[in-house]
Amino acid sequence: MSIAFLDGAYLPLEEARISPLDRGFLFGDGIYEVVPSYAGSMVGFAPHIARMKSGLAAVGINLDWSETDWADLCNRLITDNGAGNLGIYLHVSRGADTKRFHGFPENIAPTVFAFAFDIAPPPIAEKALARTYKVSTARDLRWERCHIKSTALLGNVLHFQQGYEKGHGETILFNANNELTEASACNVFIVKNGIVITPPLDNQLLPGITRDIVLDVLRKDGSIPVEERIVTMDEVTSADEVWVTSSSKEIAPVIAVDDVPVGNGEVGDVWLAAQALYTAGKFNY
Ligand code: PDD
Repeated sequence: MSIAFLDGAYLPLEEARISPLDRGFLFGDGIYEVVPSYAGSMVGFAPHIARMKSGLAAVGINLDWSETDWADLCNRLITDNGAGNLGIYLHVSRGADTKRFHGFPENIAPTVFAFAFDIAPPPIAEKALARTYKVSTARDLRWERCHIKSTALLGNVLHFQQGYEKGHGETILFNANNELTEASACNVFIVKNGIVITPPLDNQLLPGITRDIVLDVLRKDGSIPVEERIVTMDEVTSADEVWVTSSSKEIAPVIAVDDVPVGNGEVGDVWLAAQALYTAGKFNY
């Protein structure tokens, strides 16, 4: 049984109930985060909360919670749910209205919901143990505010399903200029001639916390060059390595894109070095 939090109360997840007039339910009008936690230690807590706050500000949801309030909530959920390998899901919707009306209602309190779910143990930096991915490609058909971690994820869900129906674990997305944006629930990196490259932050992709930690640990180490720049579809299909990154996956090697092997079709040396640096440094964020 999983213990959840809903509007001030801790309760079994199965007992949590919201109004059908909650704008999160009706409109996907909310912001969310997923914070990974291993044996009681969270990765990237402060940047996750900072991103939550900037997402709430971007969509005009006023929630008066400090970082300490969020920390208390996360730590309580970690303790109550066994402190293993957990994803902490944090969700704030604009709140429950008395009618269905598109404009922001006045004087309603945001709904705050959170729960913990089991995630896989953290990746180990060993080629033979890597959890590899095969991915599809698709034209990115989502909205133009992908930097906001909105709970309105239908565009992402439909893109994920495109790959899933082909037996693939992700779908990587390209804009109308055939430039890489991200994947349905991950950021994307390529490696070419020893250089790690990922698209720059803009409205086409989520500013992933894992992406940020990867760039930071690589830059601090200094032995592997990194570039944030536009990545074309041709560069993806001719890359030596492709990775997808997210809070629960950390850095996952992609071994095939549209069923064509990436490089020699095996886990790469640069992934090995990057995952080792990530493993060593992740609890500093
Ligand atoms: N997904 N891009 C998208 C569209 C995402 O949904 C995610 C995360 C990421 C990676 O962000 P981060 O490194 O901060 O987890 C990139 C989460 C985990 C999810 O929806 O479950």
